[in-house]
Amino acid sequence: ELPITVKEFAEEIGEAPNNLIVELMNMGVMANVNQSLDEDTLELLAEEIGVQIKFKTEEEEETLMRVGPEIEDKEEDLEVRPPIVTVMGHVDHGKTTLLDVIRKSRVAGSEAGGITQHIGAYQAKVNEKLITFIDTPGHEAFTAMRARGAQLTDIAILVVAADDGIMPQTEEAINHAKAAGIPIIVAINKIDKANAQPERVKQELTEYGLVPEDWGGNTICVNVSALQEQNIDELLEMIILVSEMEELKANPNRLADGVVIEAELDKGRGPVATILVKNGTLKIGDPILAGLTSGRVRAMFNEFGESLDKAGPSSAVEVLGFNEVPAAGDFVQSLEDERQARDVASDRQDERRQSELKSDAKVSLDDLYNQI
Ligand code: GTP
Ligand code: MG
Repeated sequence: ELPITVKEFAEEIGEAPNNLIVELMNMGVMANVNQSLDEDTLELLAEEIGVQIKFKTEEEEETLMRVGPEIEDKEEDLEVRPPIVTVMGHVDHGKTTLLDVIRKSRVAGSEAGGITQHIGAYQAKVNEKLITFIDTPGHEAFTAMRARGAQLTDIAILVVAADDGIMPQTEEAINHAKAAGIPIIVAINKIDKANAQPERVKQELTEYGLVPEDWGGNTICVNVSALQEQNIDELLEMIILVSEMEELKANPNRLADGVVIEAELDKGRGPVATILVKNGTLKIGDPILAGLTSGRVRAMFNEFGESLDKAGPSSAVEVLGFNEVPAAGDFVQSLEDERQARDVASDRQDERRQSELKSDAKVSLDDLYNQI
């Protein structure tokens, strides 16, 4: 929890405070034991000394929280929904190429080949079934969601280049997916290359507890070439298969819950947020709350820039109508009452301000002591 001083952090990780001060000095940061560390410095320091840290602040928890009780859906109200898929993997292993080739050949829109706009997610259609791809790997919404232990996706596609094998970020991705408890489908990419060694990749996977199906395990691996568009259909079919096994369901007939994937202030249109609807249906006119901001859905657009009046489970839509720009990773909820949404948002802003004041006060006290 922030703020944290050098001394508190040292205690937390069982390290001598002096060692941390030396490490900080090496990083060009002059600090004493009572100094508060900001998030960036902490992150760098933790990386330097090889410890894993996770931030948890009260405000963050709060922006994730729903207002009112969690609504349990009745079994008979649930309907099958498309899987939400992310592509993960090491640098240069072909994530973007894979996402692009799927987008290009499989867009769900009526006029395939039409100009798609980047909204952070898109849907592909495979044998009349939809798959929602989040198309910004390593995106900040994930980091935010992950830090809060919340889950954004249903299935992880792990891209491993067959000429390179498992690398540090591959390992990281495996750990994230395991921690989230979501199934991993391995896309062994670049099999067109002369030096591709897909069998070696499979061998390496077993070392991480991912035993390929053809080796007697239950990890689905598909050899693909994103560049030459080889076996992309097989990969997509495997995604459908896994999603059917997962029995992913939602209730389209209720107020929407979702997550902000990305958001920005558009000069002409005001705050614009891409929202991934996780449950329920988001409709034009719905009062909405996202983190510290609220509003009313004024307009919604899909990835083709087409205007929509509703968005059901697992769809991603650009939403206009927020009073301010929400943050990526914020929990989104539509409410019956716009006043309630506004009140909750303003309460949260007050609390945020209060706690910022408190931490400012703490910093300046520390500074004062330093000068004595
Ligand atoms: P980062 O976003 O930097 O992490 O990389 P990435 O994983 O998105 O990889 P990207 O799709 O940008 O591909 C990296 C390079 O590998 C590019 O030069 C691609 O053209 C190439 N590449 C991707 N897929 C294949 C493939 O199937 N075969 C071959 N031969 N090259 C590929
Ligand atoms: Mg990329």
